[in-house]
Amino acid sequence: MVEAGSRHLDRWDRQAPEYDTRTAGLERRFLSASRRWMGRRAQGTTLEIAIGTGANLPYYPDDVTVTGIDLSGGMLAEAAGRISDADTEARLLRADATAVPFPADAFDTVVATFALCSVPDVEATLVEALRVLRPGGRLLLADHVAGDWPLRLLQYAVDLVTVPLHGEHFTRRPLLVLRRLAADPDSAVIIEETERLGFGIIERVHATTLDS
Ligand SMILES: C[S@@+](CC[C@H](N)C(=O)[O-])C[C@H]1O[C@@H](n2cnc3c(N)ncnc32)[C@H](O)[C@@H]1O
Repeated sequence: MVEAGSRHLDRWDRQAPEYDTRTAGLERRFLSASRRWMGRRAQGTTLEIAIGTGANLPYYPDDVTVTGIDLSGGMLAEAAGRISDADTEARLLRADATAVPFPADAFDTVVATFALCSVPDVEATLVEALRVLRPGGRLLLADHVAGDWPLRLLQYAVDLVTVPLHGEHFTRRPLLVLRRLAADPDSAVIIEETERLGFGIIERVHATTLDS
């Protein structure tokens, strides 16, 4: 299952020890507010997809139990270091976001923050997220996405370098993929809240699955 994942795995492993230091400025200015937003909505048993170095861990309420998956053993090792400092109960697992090793309806909440920009296939990842979410569960997404024009032109230019080099996408819109999935007559997804910030570059999505 893990073999199906990112061809940029080596890069994530290599940069894991310095990742938090290198992104500290971004974290303070742009990312931490979305982590707080996520933490106010997460509840119960929570799966975090592509957890990276575990930057969300301090933001979960104490009564949430987190299962964090990531393809990179290096990033997971950094996240493991954060678990002891956080009040939240958490376990980590090396797994591919597009083939999640859990049964259907296993989680109350599924979280993906600044993760769908890096996974190889947004739709396959969202399909997996919705499969493991129980009826009445919450899907919480926050990511950097294609922003307003003309900023988006610059993002397309950046993509030309970052996508082949790092697998990092700046012009994705996971919300549009989720809306397409939600439009399927068999889908039980309801998009409850969306917001865009910072010239449209950050997008947050709170969706739920219909309670049966
Ligand atoms: C930007 S970093 C993590 C960000 C983290 N979610 C956060 O909020 O700070 C992106 C992560 O995606 C992981 N990743 C990329 N492709 C993946 C896949 N197919 N399955 C699981 N994790 C993946 C990388 O290993 C990396 O840790």
